[in-house]
Amino acid sequence: MESILNTPANSPISHKNNFALARIASVGTAVPTRVLSNADLEKMVETTDQWIVERTGIKQRYIVENGVTCSDLAAEAAKKALANAGVPATDVDLIIVATVTPDMMLPATACLVQHKIGATKAWGFDLSIACSGFLYAMQVAVQFVANGVHKNVIVIGMDIMSSIIDYTDRQTCIIFGDGGGAVLIQPSDVVENGCFIDFLHEVDGSGGDFLCLPGGGSQMPASEKTVADKLHYVKQDGPVVFKFASKRMPELCARLLERNGLTGADIDLFIPHQANLRIIKAAVDRLGMPMEKVIVNIDEYGNTTAGTLPLAIGTALGQGRLKKGDLVLFAAMGAGLSAGATLMRWGF
Ligand code: COA
Repeated sequence: MESILNTPANSPISHKNNFALARIASVGTAVPTRVLSNADLEKMVETTDQWIVERTGIKQRYIVENGVTCSDLAAEAAKKALANAGVPATDVDLIIVATVTPDMMLPATACLVQHKIGATKAWGFDLSIACSGFLYAMQVAVQFVANGVHKNVIVIGMDIMSSIIDYTDRQTCIIFGDGGGAVLIQPSDVVENGCFIDFLHEVDGSGGDFLCLPGGGSQMPASEKTVADKLHYVKQDGPVVFKFASKRMPELCARLLERNGLTGADIDLFIPHQANLRIIKAAVDRLGMPMEKVIVNIDEYGNTTAGTLPLAIGTALGQGRLKKGDLVLFAAMGAGLSAGATLMRWGF
């Protein structure tokens, strides 16, 4: 496959390249207003602000008030993305919600969002691959736009992690927060208006037990015992997940760059999943990039699972660090175990 990187900026995009026709056209984010600070957590579990900051880089996270759902924040983010693009909800063809904290097991949160935003002509579904969800969902959207079937696809990465976190488990509760965002994926006419270039995704199901929520599925249906045993909360082997993330995320990025004839030095902005500041720094070191090229907002939001990458795009735009023409590398990893990297030209 000829890389779109070799295409002059003002040329029409070749239909031969599957990943050349779609771009992110707009972004919207949504986070709750209630702050859960490290000082708050010091009162809930045996931990300290110093330990959390040193081991993770997190200073606070936002969590929802009781009754606020995934679809509430997802709809808020989607409405903002549509307003930023000047596209009416009635023009949306497809809504994909990447989440592991749907409002309910069924119906899909995408259906609730479709109703809340008035996207009367859209179909939709949820995609469940935890922290890799937003990148995977964007690639699904790209396929529908690149093959000419759809013109407006809303991709949402949103998680209400506070609904599945055990606030007596100090290794886990310090990490996660609530929130996320939405992007509108549209066809692109020329490279300079932005386009997806390439992606590399990978799952390794042999690591499934290291980061999971065991109860409530077909393997262990909800019962008094599953509730008593706290099996409806996220369980993780932190150090194992840490090692996987620090190794695989940069490896995937390096392979993706290499097959496009690039190195870390060619990337204008690196937007990694915000799981742990030390994981981000390991990836940045491996790729040979200065931290000035990296978006970090984990200090404010914690790990919002599928929400981290759209939130990080929002941070990049807010800080004026994402400009038209930038070559942007995204990276994610999470439960599965799963990982992904995506390369794109930013178009606005
Ligand atoms: N406060 C204080 N001490 C804590 C603590 C906390 N919140 N959590 C764990 N500790 C303790 C441990 O009990 C252990 O004590 P010990 O040495 O007396 O046994 C010590 O700190 C070191 O524990 P360890 O688990 O090795 O720490 P770590 O440096 O690996 O940090 C994580 C723990 C969870 C922060 C880290 O492993 C991590 O970020 N893993 C990845 C998790 C992740 O990203 N999950 C989502 C993926 S999308």
